[in-house]
Amino acid sequence: MAVLPIIEIPDPRLRKVSEPVGAFDTELKRLIADMFETMYDAPGIGLAAIQVGVPKRLLVIDLQEEGEGVRNPRVYVNPLFSEPSDEMSVYNEGCLSIPEQYAEVSRPASIRLRWQDADGAEHDERVDGLLATCLQHENDHLEGIVFTDHLSRMKRDMVLKKLEKQRKLNKAA
Ligand code: NI
Repeated sequence: MAVLPIIEIPDPRLRKVSEPVGAFDTELKRLIADMFETMYDAPGIGLAAIQVGVPKRLLVIDLQEEGEGVRNPRVYVNPLFSEPSDEMSVYNEGCLSIPEQYAEVSRPASIRLRWQDADGAEHDERVDGLLATCLQHENDHLEGIVFTDHLSRMKRDMVLKKLEKQRKLNKAA
């Protein structure tokens, strides 16, 4: 397993629409293992393949709801959303591709999700809570969307300005 470099905005690859996964082979399993290692190392609770530069419809998530060090890895291949709830949920989101920046984003509180696991088996579940938020955030990456796209122009400019400032500080340090 390996920790892969995470690409950050404004890398144009983050604007690409990812392609469906067709082969459930050892290469896919290695990519999944590397993505988990990368996500735990960051650390983060979700990662889309395009964030490590691979334009495939693949997400890994671990909400670590039972505390640090207790792992509950979840893999979603070719996720497909439908039937979003009318009820919305607001969460203070962050993104490993927009480091150290956070903003409140409103999304459907629950949603139906169909997906395949690492072996290609199909699943169909209704999800809610933080998992629903995280899945929608990660799924956006597969469409070339990042969470700041959901913000008002003023709020987005503020986040991007703060990111630039932070990057300059990191460079100077
Ligand atoms: Ni993200």
